[in-house]
Amino acid sequence: MAIGIVTGIPGVGKTTVLGKVEELLSKRGVRYKIMNYGDYMLRRALEGNYVKDRDQIRKLPLNIQKELQLQAAKAMYDEAQALGEGGVGLVDTHAVVRTPQGYLPGLPKHIIEILGPNVIFLIEAPPALILERQKRDQGRSRLDYSEESVIEEVMQFARSFAVASATLVGASVKIVINREGSPEEAAAEVVKVLTGG
Ligand code: AP5
Repeated sequence: MAIGIVTGIPGVGKTTVLGKVEELLSKRGVRYKIMNYGDYMLRRALEGNYVKDRDQIRKLPLNIQKELQLQAAKAMYDEAQALGEGGVGLVDTHAVVRTPQGYLPGLPKHIIEILGPNVIFLIEAPPALILERQKRDQGRSRLDYSEESVIEEVMQFARSFAVASATLVGASVKIVINREGSPEEAAAEVVKVLTGG
């Protein structure tokens, strides 16, 4: 089984790209599971009455974010294992999360060791385009990521955090550009890396 962790700054389009990855894997008859880390954390955060929506998660006290992060990783690991030989597990998440208390590693040692990925993808796009995508995506509240200088800083931190996490488990780090209007191109690159063709 191959595990890929797909990271990218909020609004870069990783969930959109993963939608296209899903289409490609289905067409090829590959057994796969795409797991959105935020969904797994949100489910538990709602059960605990900590938040009303996913954009409040990163503003929670750090100890609660870390507990939700751990519970989510364990649940995703179990689901990925169930795919068995030849399956592909994909985790939609963040190498780093910008919180009011500072940068929180999205994939610290105890989490990355649970997930055990083969590759960590960094989905990237020019900061100005990320801002435009955020503005078009009205249903979400990403005001804490809505300045070009902040986006640039987070992208730099994300690369450093991704390398640090990958080093702990011997995973590779692959940068994939999500070009404007062509998320399928980025998806094809992700599938190629994961399946070798
Ligand atoms: P998460 O669920 O990942 O939310 P997010 O960060 O806002 O990311 P999204 O998935 O909503 O945005 P996206 O980048 O995938 O963009 P989208 O495809 O929607 O995380 C929620 C929260 O969970 C986090 O804030 C954090 O608190 C917590 N969390 C998650 N992982 C964690 C971890 N490991 N540790 C701790 N906490 C964690 O696209 C955006 C827009 O762009 C759309 O309108 C789309 O149509 C458009 N678009 C996309 N691609 C293109 C393209 N190529 N051309 C033109 N438009 C495009």
